[in-house]
Parts: sequence; C-alpha cells; structure tokens
Amino acid sequence: MELRDWALRILSADTLEEKLLDPGDLTDENPGPPVHFNEPIRPVGMGFHKRSKEQKLPPFQLHGSGENRAICLHRFAGHELLAVEIMAYALVAFPDAPKAFRKGVVHTLKEEQSHVKLYIKRMEELGLRFGDLPLYRHFWNHVPHLTSPIRYVSVMSLTFEMANLDFAPLYGKSFSHFGDTESAALMGKILEDEIRHVSFGYRWLLRFKNETEKPWDAWVSSLTPLLNPKRAKGFILYEEHRKMAGVDDMWIQQLKNS
Ligand SMILES: [Fe+2]
Ligand SMILES: [Fe+2]
Repeated sequence: MELRDWALRILSADTLEEKLLDPGDLTDENPGPPVHFNEPIRPVGMGFHKRSKEQKLPPFQLHGSGENRAICLHRFAGHELLAVEIMAYALVAFPDAPKAFRKGVVHTLKEEQSHVKLYIKRMEELGLRFGDLPLYRHFWNHVPHLTSPIRYVSVMSLTFEMANLDFAPLYGKSFSHFGDTESAALMGKILEDEIRHVSFGYRWLLRFKNETEKPWDAWVSSLTPLLNPKRAKGFILYEEHRKMAGVDDMWIQQLKNS
C-alpha cells in the first residue's frame, strides 16, 4: 500500500479497526500534493466531546479503585488515537519531507496504534470499553499551526510525547503502588517507546533547524501560540528519560527552569 493511501484511510476511517489497520508493506512513491484536514472522521461514539477542556483525571490517591485506573487508561488511549491521526496528518500534509523522516513517522504511527490496542485491552480487563467516556479534540486544536515538519516534531514529539516521559512513569508508579502490576507494566512499555519517539523528534529538529540556532530556541520558536515549554514536562521532571532520548543537557536545564 502507498503510505499516502494508508494515512488518508486512517484520517477518513469511521471504524476503529480502520484507524488501527496494519498496512503491511508500504511504499512511498506517490506522496501527492499536500492535504489538510481540520478534523479527522471519527467512528460513531468516538467523536470529539463538545467541551474542549478535558475533565480532570482521578487524583493519584484514588488509584486504588480499578474503575479510576480504567478512567486514566481511557484518557491515555484517547491521546494515543489522537497521535495516530496527527501522524497520519503529517504524512499527507508534508509530502515533500525527506523520505527517511516520513519512514520514521510511519514507524512511530504503528507504535501509537499498538499503544491504543494495549490501553483498550487493559481498560477492558478493568471493565471499561473505549468510547464509554468522552474523547477530546486536544492535539487537533494545534493542527492549523503545524505548517512544517519542524513544527510537527516540536509540537508532537518534543512537547506532547516529551511530557509523557514524566506522566507515563508517574502513573506507572501510582498503579504499581496500588498493586496493579499489569497497568504499571503497560506504562513502562509506553515510556520505553516514547523515549524513542522523542529521540526521533529531537534528531529531526537538529536536521531541520538553522545551523546557528540552539536546539532549545528552534523548539520554542516552533511551538504554537497555544503551547509553552511547561507543556513538555510533568510535575516531576525525569531528566534521565530525556538523556536516554539524546536531548542535550542545556535543553534539560532550560526545561527545568521554565
Ligand atoms: Fe504513544
Ligand atoms: Fe509516541
């Protein structure tokens, strides 16, 4: 299948199976003209909730309840599905981006599909079905500003995915504290993958930015007006996960101070 066709199918899919479709072997011979979406098509029952502000997740001290942990997993699955769509969007919006970059986005997208599936499996074990709770537009609010690959990696990889280098282990520790080793292991797997996704974004930021610009400055100047550096971290910042992703020390210091 052509990469562009797969990405368009994901964005136009009205079933979850189609959103999570394994495309088999992909080719990238006809990237076509840029295509822009304001919003993806969504399966019935998985449309975006009208309230754009996400409701607060159950606080950490209430994670002893399986129902509350499932609520958290539902939210995370929603984020993963958004990531699947935004990555498909990057493939159709930036047909002229380097082939190696597009290939990397494909690889990441497939891992996000697997994350959706892992979260669905675990939330079902805890008694919740995906789509039973509201889903939010979130990442799609930023799409009008994703006008170039450097903006894409700055927003997706280096802000949202980078923040997960803190949130995934924070939630993992909490689930583990309440004896839910399976959900904790799932968060560990997510963290492992997200470190690689951040690393991908960081390496391409270095390639895309002006030579004279510092990586941090290139990142900040590529953020959308809706974002600031604080959005790239949790209330605890795990330096070591960023180091594992290859992020430079100066960046980590600046993020700590922001
Ligand atoms: Fe993910
Ligand atoms: Fe990711």
